[in-house]
Order: sequence, then C-alpha cells, then structure tokens
Amino acid sequence: MSTEGGFKVAVVGGAGGIGQPLALLMSLDPKVSELVIIDLNVAMVPAAGVAKDLSHLEGKCKVVSLTLEVNVDKAIDKAGDVLTGCDLVLVPAGMPRKPGQDRKDLLKVNADIAKGTVEAVAKHAPKAVVALIVNPVNSVVPAMCALWEKAGLDPCKIVGVTTLDVVRANKFVTEITGKPAEIPVIGGHAGTTILPLFSQDPAGRLIPADQIPDLDRRVQDAGTEVVKEKNGKGSATLSMAYAGARLGKAVLMGLAGKPTTECAYVKSSVHGDLSFFASTVTFGRNGVEKIHPVPGSLSEHERRRLEEMTPVLKEEIDAGLEYAKGVQ
Ligand code: NAD
Ligand code: LMR
Repeated sequence: MSTEGGFKVAVVGGAGGIGQPLALLMSLDPKVSELVIIDLNVAMVPAAGVAKDLSHLEGKCKVVSLTLEVNVDKAIDKAGDVLTGCDLVLVPAGMPRKPGQDRKDLLKVNADIAKGTVEAVAKHAPKAVVALIVNPVNSVVPAMCALWEKAGLDPCKIVGVTTLDVVRANKFVTEITGKPAEIPVIGGHAGTTILPLFSQDPAGRLIPADQIPDLDRRVQDAGTEVVKEKNGKGSATLSMAYAGARLGKAVLMGLAGKPTTECAYVKSSVHGDLSFFASTVTFGRNGVEKIHPVPGSLSEHERRRLEEMTPVLKEEIDAGLEYAKGVQ
C-alpha cells in the first residue's frame, strides 16, 4: 500500500503529444516515486526513450517504460508487471481530432484503445484511479465505467478529465478582469455541454452580463481554436498536460489523505436523469469521495444553458453506454 510520497503513476500514451509533457510534470511531483510510460512501438518517440530522458531529472522518481506492439489484440494485457501497484493511471492514449472533426467522431477508434487499457488496469491494478483524457470524454467515460463495473470494480475510480475547461475559463476571466479566478465548469467536455459558471467566482461576477455569452462560447470553442491553429497536426497538448497534471496531483493529494477538490466528469446523479456529469468533485483516499451538487445560485444565462445542453449530453452518454453494450 502506498504511503504519502510513494505513489506509482502510469501514463498510457506517454510518448504522445500530451503524454510526454504530462509525464514530465508528474515526474516532478514529490508524491510520485515511480512513473511508468506506456506507448505503442509506432509512437513518434519510443516510450523507452521518453523514460530514459525523464530518468535523468534530479529527484527520487524512478521512471520505467513499456512498449506495446500495435495491432496486437490485448497487447496491454502484457503490462501486468508495470501496472501492478499503480495508484493512478492517466490515459491520453488515442487519436486527436483534425480540423472539421467533432470529438464524437473519435468514439469508436478511441473507445477501442481505452477499452484495452481499462481492462488491463481492472485486472492488474484494480485499486488504481483511472483518469481518462482521451476524447470524446462525454462518451468514453460512461463506456469505460460500464466495463469497469462489469469487472466488479468501484465506479468512483473512473474520472473523466475536464480540467482544461476550468484552466481556460480561469485564464480568459483573468485576462478580462486582471484578477485570479477559479471558475467551476460543469456538464461535459464538448461544445455546448461545456458550461462555465462565471456566477460562482468573485472575478467571474465582475464581468458584465452582456459579455458573458461570448465568453461562455469562447470557453466552449477553445479546443477548436487550437485544432484550427495546429492545422491538422493535432489538438491541445501542452495546456492539456498542465491541466492533466493539475488533476493528477489533486487525485494523489486525495489518496494521501488530504481531500482535494477539482471539477471532473464522473458517474453522478447531481443533474436530472443524466448518469454522468462534470461538477466539483472531492478526491479522497478512495478516489471520488464527494460529488458536489450544481450550485443553486446560477445566473439566468447559466440556467438556460444547463437546460439546453442536457439532452445533448444525454445523447453522448447514451452513445458511450451503447458502445459498452456492444463489446460486452
Ligand atoms: P497523440 O497522437 O500525440 O498521442 C497519443 C499517443 O497515444 C500516441 O503516442 C500513440 O502511440 C498512443 N497510443 C495509441 N494507441 C495506444 C494504445 N493502445 N496503447 C498505448 N498507447 C497508445 O495525441 P494527443 O494530442 O496526445 O491526444 C490524445 C488524446 O487526448 C486525443 O484523443 C485527444 O482528443 C485527447 N484530448 C483530450 C483533452 C481533454 O480535455 N480531455 C484535451 C486535449 C486532447
Ligand atoms: C480540447 O478541448 O482541447 C480537447 O478536447 C481536444 C479537442 O479535440 O479539442
């Protein structure tokens, strides 16, 4: 069992655009004593090279790697040795979108990738928290949670990473107001399902009501802004690595017995009949310890947006659950 400061963390897709800087940031966390880089033999950089590179940083973190053969069914199942004892598995493995694509266009290809990972973690590290960065988060998380539960495991260990929406909302509010911000972002992680609650933060409340719809839209479209500028060469990687590390560190703080709160997309009953929802979550010794309710004091705009996005998110959750039914 891990003691504070002795956590083992894996990054699946650790040689990719997000994976490399995410692995760097996690290796610098004093709570991480062992880091595992897992990627395919066709990755742009060999996982062993990423691990060797990181292993030269000062500090106590031991870095190891595992290379999986592409197109080999259940290749990750051979990851028993490296996955055993993991406390946290961060999963950016998957295809990023190209200009003109929606995140939901990635469902089949990326859920197939995530499935192998989640099944292997369920077998070799059933106590780990699994943080899914791979898109489409709105559907992949329900799908993987269903597989996890089918293995008899606790859904409070499966976390969809929506921290980048919070990071973006904070940045945009600070640019306007000059004040630090901590904007909760609820709902999901695609288009209109991304709902920043500017009303819930002192800096957010300084923004005039007539500027809120555009700012809200900017947070929703921020991923697409990056996809367009990268011009077919991927989506957000550096900001995502920063956000993923922020979430990863919060999970580890919770596991270390210091409950820590972040927004995340989890199995939930806080909003209507939606079975998954992003909201403020407290991480504790067992992963998701508390899911906070949607604040009662939403603005008129936020209330209307919540109502409008609910059927959209429902459809995307159902697509994930359908995927899980099809592969069970
Ligand atoms: P990338 O192509 O640069 O890296 C993905 C890595 O995953 C590659 O190294 C690839 O070899 C590896 N991989 C693929 N299949 C694998 C498998 N079965 N096992 C192990 N590794 C495997 O892509 P990226 O830019 O790092 O993006 C990764 C994912 O993250 C995409 O789906 C993207 O849409 C998503 N993303 C999510 C958010 C978010 O806010 N949640 C933000 C940005 C990107
Ligand atoms: C993001 O928000 O940057 C990610 O979901 C990647 C994307 O496809 O936009």
